[in-house]
Amino acid sequence: MARVVLENLVKTYPPTDKKNPAFTAVKGIDLEIRDREFMVLVGPSGCGKSTTLRMIAGLEDITAGSIAIDDQVVNEVPRARSRRHAGPVRAARA
Ligand SMILES: Nc1ncnc2c1ncn2[C@@H]1O[C@H](COP(=O)(O)OP(=O)(O)O)[C@@H](O)[C@H]1O
Ligand SMILES: [Mg+2]
Repeated sequence: MARVVLENLVKTYPPTDKKNPAFTAVKGIDLEIRDREFMVLVGPSGCGKSTTLRMIAGLEDITAGSIAIDDQVVNEVPRARSRRHAGPVRAARA
């Protein structure tokens, strides 16, 4: 288990073409998940849940802000080295 702290975490996806400009999917989330705490992200489709979880898991580069796992900032640390216990768990459809 671990403590996870997000500070002003931002994700802007780059533009793919003129019809799909840059899009900020996560606009500065602050969140502390304590060691052994059970946390659930709930929100409408497209609000940025998966993007947030993918950044925590190291599967998506972050645009701004920071992610710390057990007090170590892991913004630049790829999944294999320090995040092997962190990963998204998909929700079942209700
Ligand atoms: N690779 C991507 N490139 C551009 N936009 C994306 C990409 N992935 C997700 N998005 C957009 O970011 C927003 C948040 O998506 P997502 O994190 O999957 O939301 P949720 O999991 O809450 O449904 C949506 O508007 C989605 O279309
Ligand atoms: Mg999702």
